[in-house]
Amino acid sequence: MKLFSNPTQDEIKMAAKALKDGHLVALPTETVYGLGADANNEKAVVRIYEVKGRPKNHPLIVHISSIELFDKWARDTPEYAIKLARAFWPGPMTLVSRRTNLAKDFVTGGQETVAIRVPSHTLASQLLKEFESLGGIGVAAPSANRFGNVSPTNSKAVEEELGKFLLESDQILDGGQSQIGIESTIIDCTGDIPVVLRPGSVTIEMVENLLDTEIGERSSLNQNVKVPGSFKTHYAPKARVVLNGVTGPGDGFIALEEIPTSIGAIRLASPKDVLEYAQVLYSAFRLADSKGIKTVNVIPPAEQGLGVAINNRLLKASKGE
Ligand code: TXA
Ligand code: MG
Repeated sequence: MKLFSNPTQDEIKMAAKALKDGHLVALPTETVYGLGADANNEKAVVRIYEVKGRPKNHPLIVHISSIELFDKWARDTPEYAIKLARAFWPGPMTLVSRRTNLAKDFVTGGQETVAIRVPSHTLASQLLKEFESLGGIGVAAPSANRFGNVSPTNSKAVEEELGKFLLESDQILDGGQSQIGIESTIIDCTGDIPVVLRPGSVTIEMVENLLDTEIGERSSLNQNVKVPGSFKTHYAPKARVVLNGVTGPGDGFIALEEIPTSIGAIRLASPKDVLEYAQVLYSAFRLADSKGIKTVNVIPPAEQGLGVAINNRLLKASKGE
């Protein structure tokens, strides 16, 4: 595996060619780093599952450079989905829509729907454009971590997670620290109203304001959809994560800057607001593991706006404790 730091235009072209030739390329996005493969190449996509150690029926997000390619993958798209796409793409939002024939079972996990995203990170966008200029139509990319682990927000974390599972011909592109730090908002657009399947930095309030209507909750879904993070150990570090617990000596501690560190605890992050909280959370979890810390006590932010998504990930990481 080769790692390219701040790749040049030529190196981005080579990475696009590698994708087109069926190799895997880990790429930065504004949310978290993804492990990319040509979404039309079954062999390449199967390798994503092997490298991640992920169950086969767990569907992937197809990344495209612009809304122009949306209709290649999605059909019977409701008007509200187009509105969402126009408002929040490129950006940290994934839309789930009915699939066209292009979206094969090996990408959708056999579901009749497909998840699509247009990322805004410049390097991701350039890579996708180059890939499309070679005839590619979309890049399937889950977060670039082993199944169940915390998503990587920089290239070093990708290397630590997947380095030993990647082949010589695979690549990692370094595009700095992911600005948002948690995974995209996933919105199911197959019904009369949108349903948020995974909260993210495109918040429920933002969607409701745009569409001028209340939107559905995940519990209103009655179809057999693989809900992201529905496995209890998702987004979890090795350390035990406790929310609002009693901090003991040697425990890790994560809280907003205004909250003082408990006596004897090891401060892992002091974000000044929710934006920074999302940015640093996964690195703080990784730091805990690198220090061999056994228990991390986390004081979650208020459950509003981006705080909803942070609380969602914290609850998963704490396995409901
Ligand atoms: O921010 C992100 O979304 C990152 C970056 C790399 O784009 N990607 C990401 O992918 O988080 P992943 O595979 O780790 O999580 C995507 C989730 C999966 O848990 C999967 O269940 C869900 O999206 N998903 C994919 N296709 C779906 C579908 N057709 N219906 C419902 N959920 C779907
Ligand atoms: Mg993931």
